[in-house]
Order: sequence, then structure tokens, then C-alpha cells
Amino acid sequence: MKAILEQLETRREQARLGGGQRRIDAQHAKGKLTARERLEVLLDEGSFEEFDMFVAHRCVDFGMDKQKYPGDGVVTGWGTINGRLVYVFSQDFTVLGGSLSATHAQKICKIMDMAIKNGAPVIGLNDSGGARIQEGVDALGGYADVFQKNIEASGVIPQISVIMGPCAGGAVYSPAITDFIFMVRDSSYMFVTGPDVVKTVTNEVVTAEELGGAKTHTSRSSVADGAFDNDLEALLEVRRLVDMLPLNNREKPPVRPFFDDQAREEPSLDTLVPDNPNAPYDMHELVRKLADEGDFFEIQADFAKNILTGFIRLEGRTVGVVANQPMVLAGCLDIGSSRKAARFVRFCDAFEIPILTLVDVPGFLPGTAQEYGGVIKHGAKLLFAYGEATVPKVTVITRKAYGGAYDVMASKHLRGDFNYAWPTAEIAVMGAKGATEIIYRADLGDPEKIAEHTKNYEDRFANPFVAAERGFIDEVIMPRNTRKRVCRAFASLRNKKLGNPWKKHDNIPL
Ligand code: HXC
Repeated sequence: MKAILEQLETRREQARLGGGQRRIDAQHAKGKLTARERLEVLLDEGSFEEFDMFVAHRCVDFGMDKQKYPGDGVVTGWGTINGRLVYVFSQDFTVLGGSLSATHAQKICKIMDMAIKNGAPVIGLNDSGGARIQEGVDALGGYADVFQKNIEASGVIPQISVIMGPCAGGAVYSPAITDFIFMVRDSSYMFVTGPDVVKTVTNEVVTAEELGGAKTHTSRSSVADGAFDNDLEALLEVRRLVDMLPLNNREKPPVRPFFDDQAREEPSLDTLVPDNPNAPYDMHELVRKLADEGDFFEIQADFAKNILTGFIRLEGRTVGVVANQPMVLAGCLDIGSSRKAARFVRFCDAFEIPILTLVDVPGFLPGTAQEYGGVIKHGAKLLFAYGEATVPKVTVITRKAYGGAYDVMASKHLRGDFNYAWPTAEIAVMGAKGATEIIYRADLGDPEKIAEHTKNYEDRFANPFVAAERGFIDEVIMPRNTRKRVCRAFASLRNKKLGNPWKKHDNIPL
């Protein structure tokens, strides 16, 4: 009997070694943790329970019958993050480069099925050379099975991908379907085809880092939502994010204890907006001053910096924030910022996270680059996302809310629940100068007349009161009281019920 028990331990030991000590050392030498070490950091201590530790591939081609590793290159199972259930898979680069075989895919699909059934997030730690080349079409089929599960799980449970090594081919498409992608600087890459194939096909010479490193994907392509300096930091930040999210689309986000005054006044906000209407100020300051303990988990911080997206807590409850950033492009909406914010708004709506919108937007960015790039369609994404969202929506206009961008940014007309404005708000079709030059074109040669018209236009529209007279603004509030007003607004909306007409699904402009 004892021998049988010992056999289990021996087998477990062998499985824990993955591709062997030499390859584990190579992984460490690259500054990377192993698949199992990563799970230890990600999950609460001692909470990990493994599935399918002894699963082996069934391939016999290319000498694969002699290369069997228990677990087949991916560690799967479940555990907890701050006591809340999550399902995980962690690809083991020491086993055949973490490449995906049919059985490797089945393991991932199994935990995804469990996650959907039990309503808990899936976190994938990706470190894989893509489809296992020796398996050919079986590996391709395996990938498609994973993609299908990702699609079914989308909007049902949060799905988070962390890219922790070179991810090529099929290894990038599963993460691409998930809600958030995080990368590790200098050790993770994502590309559909690597630098060698690029050279052959297009004759471009490019390094892996330039083609698909963390900087490229967080600041240029916007494929990734954030990047961290090493494995440890990435995993700890994912814990922080998961702690802000609901487990599934039928649950509310967790309510955490908070050590901040709900009615905290911030007198400094009274002077946040500069006297000069064209001078910028940092919208981060407002976000942090509103948040519990000043804590802001920013999403896509390095892409389309003219809009901020991310999560804060108000009275211990998660709120998604979308805010124009006057420091970049004067806070204009453009293709990048519209796409970024639209995706964020849709995530919040899918997972019942209320949305706070902070508005200082002079309009859509003009120009051929924008028009040729389809700003009409991309801007419509944000409009659509806000309009279809049924979660509580609270909006604060701090300064400019001009033109179409006024409508788009969670206006009353798009079913905003509370639409506040600071006394410094200007709600108009466009800035006074531009407006005057159009409606008084005949006076363009007379600077005095133009100045007078501009002043008249400013007096009439460069304030929140015309909109307030019409009920488009519910209340003009003192900047220093914004936290209190916003907290109370969201508190009053906790039982909000709003639906959309029945449909199979909508047809958001993609
Ligand atoms: C089988 C693989 C593998 C793969 C790596 N290995 N990729 N085995 N299938 N796809 C093995 C290597 O043979 C090696 O085995 C070990 O993993 C480590 O690989 P190295 O090359 O030594 O590591 P490194 O130098 O760090 O390079 C990592 C890499 C490179 C950049 C990922 O291995 C690579 O380019 N691999 C191929 C990538 C690729 O083209 N994949 C197919 C994509 S097509 P030993 O025994 O020496 O340790 C695809 C189609 C799906 O995915 C499409 C669905 C839409």
C-alpha cells in the first residue's frame, strides 16, 4: 500500500519538473518564473488545486512518442485571489516551448467550461511558441476549440490574459478575444508572424521587440492594455485588477472596506480648471481626488492618452472611469481614443460596473488622417457603446463639451442618469471663435466686430446654464464637492433597472 502511495508522489514530482531542470534554469536565466511559480504568485497561498496533472499528448509523429511530459506543457486548475474563485492556466515553456497540442488545448477548454459553469474569471498565463508543429492539424483544431470557448465566455465571465513569453501564431488570437491583455517588458512578444517571416514576405527588417514587444502593443497597436517590468509585478497587478471585478455578469463587483470620507471636500478642485480656456490641466488629478484613497487602476495608459480609462472605487465599490485628458491633443476625441473608450465602456456594461464620465472635450480631431482612417465609424463606436449601456452612468462636465463630442460623452440624451456640470463648463456647438467666424463671415475683415460677436457668443454659451435651463444638465455643482455628489449619485442608482429591446445582438459599427 505504501508503495502505491509513494508512486503518486513520485509521479507528481516528475510532473512538477516540467521539461526538466536544465530548461527550468534556462527560464530563470531569462528573468522568467516557471509556470508553477507564476501561479504561486498569482493565487492566494496554498489555494491552487490542479487538474489534469498527468495528461499526456497522443502524437507519435516526428519522434513525439519518445517525448512525453506529464501535463503536456500547461498547468491548469483553480484557486482564489483574496478569497474569490478564479480558474487559471499557465503555459510551461520548458515543455516543448509551451506549444499547444490537442491535449494541451483540451486541458484549457476543460477549465474554461468549469469557469463558465461556476461563474468565475479565467486568467491565462501565456508563454507559448504557438501550435505544436509536430501535431499539425490537431493543434490547429485545438486552437479553434479554445477560441470558441473564449467567444462563448465573452461577456459572461471576465477573461484576462498575461503574455509572459514569446507568443506567436495561434498563441495571440486567444488572448485577443479576452477582456484584458497584459505584457511583461523585454520578455514577452506577440505577433501573428515573427520577424523572419516578415522579412521573407515584405522584405522589412524588424526586431521581435519592435514588431511585437510590450511598447509596440501598449502604445501603438493597442493590442495590450498594460505592461509591467517583470513577472512578479505583472501577476501582483493582475491580482489588484481581479479584486475590482465581479466574478461573472450576474454578480456585482466586490465591496471592499474603504478608509476615506464619502463627503471629503477637495478645495483644490475649485481652481483645477485654469482661467485661460485653452490652458491644459491634468485630468488624472481629478480622477485621483475623487477615488477612494486616490487609487486608480488605469487601462491602456500608454495608448490614446487624450482619453483616460480605468477603475476606481467609490465607497468601496468599483466604478469605471472615462475622462477626456486636456493635456493631450486638448482632449479631442479621435480614432484611437474612441476605440479605447468604447471597448472599456462595453466591458463595464457587460459586467455591471457603473460608469463615471469626466468631460472636457473640444470636439472631434479634424483632418484627412482622421477622416481617411474612418473617424466617423470609430467615433460612432463610443456613441453606440454609451447609448446601449444600461449600467448607472454619472457624468461631470468640467469645462468644454462641444459639438458631437458633447453628445457622445455620456450626455443626458444617451440615458445619462446624473449629468453634472461645474460652473466652468461650456456646453456649445463649438468654441466661440470658430462659431463667430462661421455665422459672421461677412464681418471677418473687421476685428472689432468679430471680437464683439465672440464676446456675445461666449456670454451666451460659454457656461453650463443654457443646458441646465433645458434640463440637459441636472445640476451645476461646486468642484470641491464633486466626490460627495458623485458618491451619492451612484448610491442612489444601486437598484437601477434599464433594458434594451430584445435582439439577437446589436450591430455596433466595427
Ligand atoms: C513544437 C516548439 C515550438 C512549436 C518552440 N518549440 N516552438 N516545439 N512546436 N511551435 C520548442 C523548441 O523546439 C525547443 O525545444 C523549445 O520549444 C524552446 O524553443 P527555442 O526555439 O529553443 O526557444 P527560443 O529561442 O526562446 O525561441 C522561442 C520561439 C521559437 C520564438 C517561440 O521557438 C519559435 O519561433 N517557435 C516557432 C513559432 C511558430 O512558428 N509557431 C507556430 C505558429 S503557427 P527544445 O527541445 O530544444 O527545448 C500557429 C498556427 C495557429 O500557431 C493558427 C491558429 C489561428
